[in-house]
Amino acid sequence: MAKTEVKTSLLDNMIGVGDMVLLEPLNEDTFIDNLRKRFDHNEVYTYIGSVLVSVNPYRSLPIYSPEKVEEYRNRNFYELSPHIYALSDEVYRSLRDQDKDQCILITGESGAGKTEASKLVMSYIAAVCGKGAEVNQVKEQLLQSNPVLEAFGNAKTVRNDNSSRFGKYMDIEFNFKGDPLGGVISNYLLEKSRVVKQPRGERNFHVFYQLLAGASEELLNKLKLKRDVSRYNYLSLDSATVNGMDDAANFRTVRNAMQIVGFLDHEAQSVLEVVATVLKLGNIEFKPDSRVNGLDESKIKDKNELKEICELTGIDQSVLERAFSFRTVEAKQEKVSTTLNVAQAYYARDALAKNLYSRLFSWLVNRINESIKAQTKVRKKVMGVLDIYGFEIFEDNSFEQFIINYCNEKLQQIFIELTLKEEQEEYIQEDIEWTHINYFNNTIICDLIENNTNGILAMLDEECLRPGIVTDETFLEKLNQVCATHQHFESRMSKCSRFLNDTSLPHSCFRIQHYAGKVLYQVEGFVDKNNDLLYRDLSQAMWKTSQPLIKSLFPEGNPAKINLKRPPTAGSQFKASVATLMKNLQTKNPNYIRCIKPNDKKAAYIFSETLVRHQVRYLGLLENVRVRRAGYAFRQAYGPCLERYKMLCKQTWPHWKGPARSGVEALLNELEIPVEEYSFGKSKIFIRNPRTLFKLEDLRKQRLEDLATLIQKIYRGWKCRTHFLLMRKSQIVIAAWYRRYAQQKWYQKTKSSALVIQSYIRGWKARKLLRELKHQKRCEEAVTTIAAYWHGTQARRELRRLKEEARRKHAVAVIWAYWLGLKARRELRRLKEEARRKHAVAVIWAYWLGLKVRREYRKFFRAYAGKKIYEFTLQRIVQNYFLDMKNKMPSLSPIDKNWPSRPYLFLDSTHKELKRIFHLWRCKKYRDQFTDQQKLIYEEKLEASELFKDKKALYPSSVGQPFQGPYLAINENPKYKKLKDAIEEKIIIAEIVNKINRANGKSTSRIFLLTNNNLLLADQKSGQIKSEVPLVDVTKVSMSSQNDGFFAIHLKEGSEAASKGDFLFSSDHLIEMATKLYRTTLSQTKQKLNIEISDEFLVQFRKDKVCVKFIQGSQNNGSVPMCKRKNNRLLEVAVP
Ligand SMILES: Nc1ncnc2c1ncn2[C@@H]1O[C@H](COP(=O)(O)OP(=O)(O)OP(=O)(O)O)[C@@H](O)[C@H]1O
Ligand SMILES: [Mg+2]
Repeated sequence: MAKTEVKTSLLDNMIGVGDMVLLEPLNEDTFIDNLRKRFDHNEVYTYIGSVLVSVNPYRSLPIYSPEKVEEYRNRNFYELSPHIYALSDEVYRSLRDQDKDQCILITGESGAGKTEASKLVMSYIAAVCGKGAEVNQVKEQLLQSNPVLEAFGNAKTVRNDNSSRFGKYMDIEFNFKGDPLGGVISNYLLEKSRVVKQPRGERNFHVFYQLLAGASEELLNKLKLKRDVSRYNYLSLDSATVNGMDDAANFRTVRNAMQIVGFLDHEAQSVLEVVATVLKLGNIEFKPDSRVNGLDESKIKDKNELKEICELTGIDQSVLERAFSFRTVEAKQEKVSTTLNVAQAYYARDALAKNLYSRLFSWLVNRINESIKAQTKVRKKVMGVLDIYGFEIFEDNSFEQFIINYCNEKLQQIFIELTLKEEQEEYIQEDIEWTHINYFNNTIICDLIENNTNGILAMLDEECLRPGIVTDETFLEKLNQVCATHQHFESRMSKCSRFLNDTSLPHSCFRIQHYAGKVLYQVEGFVDKNNDLLYRDLSQAMWKTSQPLIKSLFPEGNPAKINLKRPPTAGSQFKASVATLMKNLQTKNPNYIRCIKPNDKKAAYIFSETLVRHQVRYLGLLENVRVRRAGYAFRQAYGPCLERYKMLCKQTWPHWKGPARSGVEALLNELEIPVEEYSFGKSKIFIRNPRTLFKLEDLRKQRLEDLATLIQKIYRGWKCRTHFLLMRKSQIVIAAWYRRYAQQKWYQKTKSSALVIQSYIRGWKARKLLRELKHQKRCEEAVTTIAAYWHGTQARRELRRLKEEARRKHAVAVIWAYWLGLKARRELRRLKEEARRKHAVAVIWAYWLGLKVRREYRKFFRAYAGKKIYEFTLQRIVQNYFLDMKNKMPSLSPIDKNWPSRPYLFLDSTHKELKRIFHLWRCKKYRDQFTDQQKLIYEEKLEASELFKDKKALYPSSVGQPFQGPYLAINENPKYKKLKDAIEEKIIIAEIVNKINRANGKSTSRIFLLTNNNLLLADQKSGQIKSEVPLVDVTKVSMSSQNDGFFAIHLKEGSEAASKGDFLFSSDHLIEMATKLYRTTLSQTKQKLNIEISDEFLVQFRKDKVCVKFIQGSQNNGSVPMCKRKNNRLLEVAVP
C-alpha cells in the first residue's frame, strides 16, 4: 500500500502488531520481539487496548510536529498508528464531550520518559483546546510551572540527566467548552537526602548549579555566594556540569518562568536566599570542644559562614550557634538541654538543610498552585496527569524504594480494579455473558504494607514511637514476628523456617514479593528516615528569622504554638497522601502510559532485551494484556466492522440495506467462523481470539486484491470503450470534414474549367469580329489609297513637266554666267601678269642701285667698326643691368639678407660693392629713425658686446634681454620710502641680487643700487641701507667665463668700504650690471673699470686673499651658483 494512502484503521500498514492484545501467541518473548520490531522501525508507541506503551527513543523523532497534532486531532483512537497524541486526544475528547473526569497515569523507571510524556500530553492539550487571550495565559502558566518545578525537583542521576526526584500529580481543570481554567499540583516525597549527599556521578538539584552559573555578579554578592561550585561541600564535584545542559541559560528560563507563573520579585528573591542558605549551611564545619560535665561538646570551626547565613536569613547569630550546640527535650513541664557532639552537630546541620530545602519545595508547589488556581467557581471538568517514579529494584533498596514500590503497588491495584471494572461494565452494557478469568490481584501485598494493625508501615511507626532503645534491628525483629506468615514477606529470621538457609537473603534485610517481582530491602536507616527528625532548637531558631518566607516554613518553631506531640512520620505521611491520590484517581476514568527505557546508556537505536524484559515484567505489561484479553481480545462497533469487512460477503457487498448488526451476522455466517469465537453485544461485535481477527484481515486483504483486479478490469473496459467511442466520433467528424473539403475542391475545379471554356469562346468570337472589322477597314483604306495614288501620279506628272521647264530656263542662265566668268578670269590673269612684271623691274632697279652705293662707300667703313660695335654692345649691357637692378632692389630692413643674383661674371665686384653701399645706406636710414633714449640703449648693448662677446658664456642669453636698469620700483613701493628718501641721486640700477656670505658661501637677498657716484646695498625687506661704496673705491669686477651670474666687486685697498673685504654677488642680470657699472665708472671717474673674466681669481676678505674657483656643478641649482667655503684660501663655486 502506498505510504500516502489515508489510514482508516490501526490495522493498516502495521509493523508487528500495533495493539499487543492482538499478539498471537502471547508470551514474554513475542511481546518483547514485537516491541523491538516496532522500536527498530521508529514506532515507539504500542497499545495494550487503551494503554499506551512508550519506548524512549532517546532522540528527537519527527512525530511531534504541529502537522501531527492536526493529523491526530478528532480522530478515533484506533484509526491511526499508536501515538501519545491519539491517547491525549481520546482523553481530551472524553473529558469535553462525555463529561467524564480523566486521569493519565504515567509510570516507568527513571529515564523511561515519563516527564517527557507528561509534557507531550500537556502540549497536545494546549494545542487543541480553546484559544483566546485569557485561555492562553492559563495555558502558558500551566506549561511554565514545569521549568520551575524541574529546576528545584530534578537532578542529574546516573540513570537520567534530568531525573525527577519527586512525584507529581497535576489536575488540569477545564470549563464545559473544554477551555483550561487552571490547575492544582500535588507533589510526593521529594528525595531530600540528595541535598546533603549525592551518589557518585550524580548531582544535587539543578537549581544550585543554575544559580551559581547564571546569576549576575550583583545577585551573587547579594546572596553572599561565589560562582565557584567547588567551594560548596553540598555540591559534588565529579559531575558539576551535564552534557548538553546550559545551566546559565536554564537559570534565565527558570526566572522567566517564575515571572510568567506569577512570582513577585521579592518572592523570587527570597526563594534564592533560601537556596543560598542551604548551600552555605553545608560549609559550616564542627570541631570537638572541651568536655564539660563529662559530655562531648562541639564547636563551629569558622564562624564566618555562620555569620553570613545569619545576615542572609536575619537570624541572631548567637541563637543559631546555640541551636547547633544544644538539644532541648521537653517532656511535660520539664526541659532538659544536652550538648551535641560533633557527629550530632553534623546530623543537625544536614537535617536542617534537608528540611529547609524540602519545605521550600512544598512552598513552591503551593505558591504555583495559588497562581494557577482556577478563578471561577463554576463546575469544572478535571484531567489529572500523574508523573511518578516507577517501580525501583536496586542492589541496595532502602526506605525510599520501599515507599516508591508501595506507591506502584497501589497504582497497579487501581489499574486492575479499574480495568476490570471497565471491562466488566462494558460486558454488562453490551449484554455479554461475563466469564471470570483468573489474574493476579495484588491487594494482598498492599495489605502487607499498609494494614493499620499489622502492616509494615504501621510496625515501623509503632517502633519509632516506642519509648526505650529503638534501632533498625528491633524493627526487623518486630516484622519477623508479625509478618512471618505472610505469603509475600520473606525474612531469614522469621519464625517460618523457609528462608533459614537462603543465603541470598542477608540477616539485616527483608524481602517482599511485589506484583512485579521480589525486592530485597536493607533495613538500615528505616527508623531514622521514617522519623525524619529535626531538633526543635533548630526549628525554633529558624522561626526567629526576620525573613517571612523562612518563618512560614517552620511553623512548629513558634513557641506560642508549641506541640509536644511528635510530628507524623514520613511513612504515615506518604501513606496518607497515597490514599488521597488513590481516592482522587478512583473518581476518574484512568488512562495509562507505560514508559520503557530501551537501554542504560541513554543512547538512541539500542534495544537491550534484558533491560526491557525486566521492565515489561515489573510494569506487569503481560498482566495488562491478559486482563485486557480476559474476555474478548477485540471489539468493534458494528458500523465500522461492517464497513471494513463487508466485501467478504456477497450479501453485504457492495451495499447492505439492513441494520449493521445483522450485516455483521450475515458476514460471519457466510465466512463460517465458529460461533464460540465471537459474541454479539448491543453495539459491538466481540471477537474472542486475535486469530479470528487476523483471519478476517487476511481474507480482507485477499478480497481487496480481487476487488482491485475487478476494479482494474472494469476500469480498463471502460477506458477502452470510451477510447473507442471517442475514436468513432472523431472518425465521423473527420469524414464529414473531408467530404466537405472534397466537394469544395471539385466545385472549385469545375468552376474554373467553365471559366476557361467561357473565355476561350469569348476570345474566338472577339477575334472573328475583329477580323471582319479589320477587313472592312482595310477595304475602306484601299479605296482611299488608290485614289491618293491616282492623284499622286497626276501631280507628279505635272511636277515633272514643270521642273523640266524650270531646268531648261536655269541652264540658259548658268551657261551665260559661266561664259561671263571665263571672260573676267582671263582679263584678271592678264592684269596680274602686267603688275608683276612692273614690280620686278622696280626691285631689280633698287638692287642695282644698292650695289652701286656699296661699291662706292665700302672703302670708308672697314677700320673702326669692330671697336665701336664692342663699346656700343658693352654700354648697352651695363645700361640694361642697372635698369634691371632698379626693379629687383631688396627691402630696406637692415637684417634682410636678400640680394639679386649677379648676371655677368665681369660685374662681380660691382655687384658686391653695390650690395655693401646699399646696406650701409639702409642702415643709416634705419639709425636716423632712433630717439636719444634708444640710442643710449644701443650704445650700452654695444658696450656689453665689446666687453663680453666671446668671453663669457652668459653673454649670448643677455643679448635679447632689454637693459632695464631699475627693476625694482623703489619710488612706487611704500615699503622702500625710507630708502628712496636716503638716495638723492639718479638710480641707474635697482635690482635684487644674492649676496654671498664670505664666511660660508650661503646667499642672502639684497637690493643692489647703482647711482651716479655710489654703489649701495640695502636690506630687501626693510629697505635699510647696509653698505655704501663710492664708485672711486671700486677697482675691479671679476667673473667666470661660464654661464653663471656670479661676480665679485673688488674694492680699493684701505678704503673705508673695503674694511670687510670684496663683495661676492650673483645675479641673473650680471651682463647688464657689469656694463652699467663700467659705463658709470668711466663717465664719473674717467677711468676704465677693470673687468676680469677668469675661472679662478683672488678676492680680498679682510686680511686674507681667497681664491674663488669655479667648478662644474649640477644643472638643478638654477641661476644661483652653489658656493662652498672650502678653507681659508678657497671658495668653490659650482656652476651649471
Ligand atoms: N519521546 C521522547 N522523544 C525523545 N526523547 C525522549 C522522549 N522521552 C524521553 N526522552 C529522553 O529521555 C530522557 C529522560 O526522560 P524523562 O526525564 O522523561 O524520564 P523520566 O521517566 O521522567 O525519568 P525520572 O523518573 O528519572 O524522572 C529525556 O531527557 C529525553 O532526553
Ligand atoms: Mg521525570
